[in-house]
Amino acid sequence: MEAEIVQMVVRMFHGEPDGCGALTSGGTESILMACKAYRELARTERGVTEPEMVVPETIHAAFDKAAHYFSIKIIKIPLGDDSRVRLDLVKRAITKNTIMIAGSAPNFPHGIIDDLRGLSQLAVAHKIPMHVDCCLGSFLMAFIEEAGFEVPLFDFRLPGVTSMSVDTHKYGFAPKGSSVIMYRNKAYRKHQYFVEPNWMGGIYASPSIAGSRPGALIAGCWATMMSMGRSGYLDATKKIVGTAREIAQRIRGEIPVLEVIGNPLVSVVAFRASRTAPSHLNVLAVNDAMSQHGWNLNALQYPAAVHIACTLLTVGKVDQFMADLKDAVEAVLHHPEQFTNGSAAMYGMAAAVPDRSIVNDIVVGYLDLCLEP
Ligand SMILES: Cc1ncc(COP(=O)(O)O)c(C=O)c1O
Repeated sequence: MEAEIVQMVVRMFHGEPDGCGALTSGGTESILMACKAYRELARTERGVTEPEMVVPETIHAAFDKAAHYFSIKIIKIPLGDDSRVRLDLVKRAITKNTIMIAGSAPNFPHGIIDDLRGLSQLAVAHKIPMHVDCCLGSFLMAFIEEAGFEVPLFDFRLPGVTSMSVDTHKYGFAPKGSSVIMYRNKAYRKHQYFVEPNWMGGIYASPSIAGSRPGALIAGCWATMMSMGRSGYLDATKKIVGTAREIAQRIRGEIPVLEVIGNPLVSVVAFRASRTAPSHLNVLAVNDAMSQHGWNLNALQYPAAVHIACTLLTVGKVDQFMADLKDAVEAVLHHPEQFTNGSAAMYGMAAAVPDRSIVNDIVVGYLDLCLEP
């Protein structure tokens, strides 16, 4: 079943006949695996001992985690005016220690697809691997063109793309705990594997981080794909992407104090206070006001912003969302004193602490609390 899932997903993202991959526990593990594979590849083929990866500053924190776990230096590149990574700065950051570059399709914070064609050209020119993080885009990206939406090329059709992560447990609608990591060919994938031929317990080999792996989740993923079928995914893509694009367009047209970030093409729409908004319009307070209406949006920082990730639950609710968002903005503009708790207060406090290690300690305390019985 794992082999069949991988084969289907490789085809959906225009992999070549020798395209390959593996199932992992989720987007983070897929990304960890790609980074680990490229570190090994650079070490064995180019003797790189101080590996570096060059990524947009909007890349998912799973890349920071990979950098931390595998001792890779992570170099984050700022965005241009279009909210996509600046290619000139990516180019300047590539050195003989660069083991990989990456872009997102789309990224988590703003739902923006990077200039993947430009990144692919850099990857080819510098002969370095390139990963496309399509964890969030997932099957929406696989069906977005067929659904009639225009997007630039984002997958293995770009010659520089050597790997992609696609989360079956996001818009593949499979149970949580599955994602696909794909490679252009087996020469990349083999560096993901771990083999210990001298173990007392026998010759040990595993394709990904886990030792024992959950067959039930693999079967659940396979069954979901069979049950949804191409028509189910196509229909979901039309509805979800259509909803997100309508939300972006209506915020732009109807709420001048908010500004949609970049040109979101998939399912996530991020917004912040516009330049013309009164200075006391705290968009994180708008998020708190939206929570009171029952919406579960995501708070973002650097800059403070909020995003909605549209799902099938959002479909048909755009009027309600817009009415609640206008109401939330009005409430924050006229009664800012009512929003002294929640995400606005939390990020306000965190921003006031210049030493980020203190924020780190507080979060560690929070995680400890979560794990208390
Ligand atoms: C763009 C992107 N990449 C990677 C991930 C990590 O996926 P997971 O939470 O399954 O580990 C996410 C999760 O939201 C994401 O949005």
